[in-house]
Amino acid sequence: MKICVSGKGGVGKTTFAGTLARLLARDGMDIIAIDADPDYNLHSTLGIKEEKIRDLVPLAEMRDLIEERTGASPDVYGSMFKLNPNVSDLPQKLWVDAPDDVKFILMGTVKKGGSGCTCPANVLLKVFLKQVLMGDHDVIVDMEAGIEHLGRGTAKHADALIVMTEATPNSIETAQKITNLARDLGLEKVYVIGNKVTSIDEERFISEHLDNVLGIIPFDHRVREAEMNGVALIDFPTSRAIEAISKIKDRIKEILCERSRIQDR
Ligand SMILES: Nc1ncnc2c1ncn2[C@@H]1O[C@H](COP(=O)(O)OP(=O)(O)OP(=O)(O)O)[C@@H](O)[C@H]1O
Ligand SMILES: [Mg+2]
Repeated sequence: MKICVSGKGGVGKTTFAGTLARLLARDGMDIIAIDADPDYNLHSTLGIKEEKIRDLVPLAEMRDLIEERTGASPDVYGSMFKLNPNVSDLPQKLWVDAPDDVKFILMGTVKKGGSGCTCPANVLLKVFLKQVLMGDHDVIVDMEAGIEHLGRGTAKHADALIVMTEATPNSIETAQKITNLARDLGLEKVYVIGNKVTSIDEERFISEHLDNVLGIIPFDHRVREAEMNGVALIDFPTSRAIEAISKIKDRIKEILCERSRIQDR
């Protein structure tokens, strides 16, 4: 099960991705959770203590490693470098243990350069993500906000793309763009999750504008409370949001496990 979580800024990607990773791990799955956002904070919704990650450097910023693997310094523009660097040992080297035996990798993103940037750092990240998404572990990736990463093809090797949205025209518009781009890239399994939903009308608003709505997570003050207390939502007293995410988790397992059974036949 390889899932990328996407959507407009602030819609709840990280809250959902971290909580889903922990819930799936509690079901016995061997999960790697990857933070692919340049403004990373997936560790907090996974329940990793701040001091454990304080000194972690995202893969995107490991200049020496990028140079060692690609043969070119990330700072030198226009030099030759390997397009298929060896990354086979990197997941084990980079992951950090999170609660429930989730393995956490701080990957980050190359901020400069735009969607078409073929630079050593971007190539290394792309090859790395492809390898993890095609490997043996179940993977959840917390993507950066917006649509730019889809242009880079980062989610191409995922089984499913989850697009989070709130019931606002702006976040629905971004979700529509992401959904269309993902389908253009050949990703068949694209699902929408409505988050911070306050009423039946909002729920209806989301399903009137987007197909494949997999579930709805209500607006829940506990999510903010957990955040303010520096505690992962899943480690906080149970809440309506957790109940909803848990149901969505079961639904995802049903859909993706059913799909792999069909492919095995
Ligand atoms: N169901 C919910 N009910 C209430 N608040 C929520 C809910 N889900 C998320 N939030 C709050 O919304 C804010 C944004 O959530 P989160 O960081 O998960 O979004 P994001 O999409 O990852 O944001 P970014 O684009 O900045 O990475 C946080 O303050 C979080 O506590
Ligand atoms: Mg986030």
